[in-house]
Amino acid sequence: MKLGCCYFPEHWPEAIWADDARRMRETGLSMVRIGEFAWSRIEPEPGRFDWGWLDRAIETLHAAGLEVVLCTPTATPPKWLVDSMPDMVAVDEQGRPRGFGSRRHYCFSHRGYREQSRRITDAIARRYGQHPAITAWQTDNEYGCHDTVLSFSDAAAQAFREWLAGRYGSIDALNTAWGNVFWSMEYRSFAEVDPPHLTVTEANPAHWLDYRRFASDEVVAFNREQVEILREHSPGRDITHNFMGFFTEFDHHDVGRDLDVATWDSYPLGFLEQFWFSDAEKNAYLRQGHPDIAAFHHDLYRGCSNGRWGVMEQQPGPVNWARFNPAPLPGMVKLWTLEAMAHGAEFTSYFRWRQAPFAQEQMHAGLLRPDSSDAEATEEARAAADVIAKIGPQQCAKAPVALVFSYEAAWVCGIQPQGRSFRYLELAYEWYSALRGFGLDIDIVAPDADLSDYRAVFVPTMPIVPDGFVSRLSNLTCPVLIGPRSGSKSESFCIPEGLPPGELRDLIPVTITRVESLRDGIVETGEGWSIARWRENVASELAPEFALEDGRGIVFAHGNHRYLAAWPDGTLLNQLITRIADEARIEFLPLPEGLRVRRSATHLFAFNYSTGPITFDPTGEVIDPAGVSITALPQ
Ligand code: GAL
Repeated sequence: MKLGCCYFPEHWPEAIWADDARRMRETGLSMVRIGEFAWSRIEPEPGRFDWGWLDRAIETLHAAGLEVVLCTPTATPPKWLVDSMPDMVAVDEQGRPRGFGSRRHYCFSHRGYREQSRRITDAIARRYGQHPAITAWQTDNEYGCHDTVLSFSDAAAQAFREWLAGRYGSIDALNTAWGNVFWSMEYRSFAEVDPPHLTVTEANPAHWLDYRRFASDEVVAFNREQVEILREHSPGRDITHNFMGFFTEFDHHDVGRDLDVATWDSYPLGFLEQFWFSDAEKNAYLRQGHPDIAAFHHDLYRGCSNGRWGVMEQQPGPVNWARFNPAPLPGMVKLWTLEAMAHGAEFTSYFRWRQAPFAQEQMHAGLLRPDSSDAEATEEARAAADVIAKIGPQQCAKAPVALVFSYEAAWVCGIQPQGRSFRYLELAYEWYSALRGFGLDIDIVAPDADLSDYRAVFVPTMPIVPDGFVSRLSNLTCPVLIGPRSGSKSESFCIPEGLPPGELRDLIPVTITRVESLRDGIVETGEGWSIARWRENVASELAPEFALEDGRGIVFAHGNHRYLAAWPDGTLLNQLITRIADEARIEFLPLPEGLRVRRSATHLFAFNYSTGPITFDPTGEVIDPAGVSITALPQ
């Protein structure tokens, strides 16, 4: 695995670039990402390009032996460009245009901006496409950051109408699919359809789902336009995009299909603070991040681009954007780095080289402080580089277990949660976390992935069952666990014929006759376990495998398939996992709280996320807090 950093030559005097490059090499870094926000310096005025500084920056980095990942700068269209077509900005759900003065102020659907995106991509790709320093390209930066996938601009409305016409062919077909007879919502033409915002009460969920699908397709199209230009002028270089954490607003599997390498930006402490974790978890893992945050995304994004992936931005110290921004425990930066390697990353690149003393992110740590002295993380990056050199390249082994992840499932649960604590990401994460607690390696895969080689398959939920999914599941002989709400909606967001779980009934003969969501804190108990948040009434000839104390069935098994009709607590989930692992003869290794493992093809890695030492049973080694143990596996 290579190490790298994100660097902004335009932020620093040219006189220090060469020394920066030298120190990067000295720290053990071999790659550097540049350019993602530099449009105003590349093209200070319409059509006037200033390549000189970028030529020299790339030459300086190259001369030091660094590989360069060059970005298209489309996340930050300059002021002159916005002023030349003010309607290119995204419009928020309240109908307010999003202003200039930060970043990501564009609407994916604006045809004029799309042309500008192609124009600047073309200019940069022609200039540097063949440069020996450039080994990879990054398109844009973090699609969707700051809530920018959905836009409610006129451009988006118009593009949505065209998208709908392409999908439905006739307005009658749309009216029928959406059920628009309800509340007299029928349209006479596609021209009458608006985006689903600013309605008096909720808009039709089918309308929302299509708007989300449309918006996701716009991100895919925007990215693809850049990819095509980069491939033409810079053949043989990898193309990537840096995805975010806990983010489902567009279908990353779809974008990933156009990339060579999927990358993501790993900020474990910021994510712990900003997402659903309990106060107890936030306190326990304050300086480490919850033990599955990084791994979950490593495994998710590895599944987005044919197995090739990396960490484009790695948190090196306190960030600036969470509610509270603690510093990592000493050792964590090294741990996060080595954990990425254990999951098969091609590189880990720290964000950023030097902390900026100005503007929005002046409180965000870098490898260097603003005065150029080494910050705390520099030594850890060096230490990680030493370990990497010592153990050599790591190949990612295929995991025994697959967890099927669906972006559309996230949209469906978000559009119609029915109980406000039914959060898709949290459900998928809980299942993933429970599996990892047994020391299992997991591949997180797309709904259309080939599942045939796995020894157990977990589907936390799949409300809309994609074409061919049932037949693929029915061909499997390994245990399959399917979670609540699966098969509960048709393609156009209606209750399926014959009631949920629709087509999945071919696998397990159950019918869901009623569902209920439960307030936070309400649980229903079984034998030593409980369920919360969500429960389904199941009609079936099958005897339940697990039932609540009052006899109502919660888990039903038929052959190798199981249906779980509730949101399980950790104990029920663990009992199911143990049973499934036994049936599949998968060896498992129940781990103490805070310890996690991952196997590469040649090594077993163990990571201590807790604040006290832990003895790692298989080796007897005592692992310090934030410590990593690496053992060669018998070959
Ligand atoms: C990422 C972003 C970077 C920087 C970083 C700060 O989301 O891609 O440009 O803002 O966060 O943590």
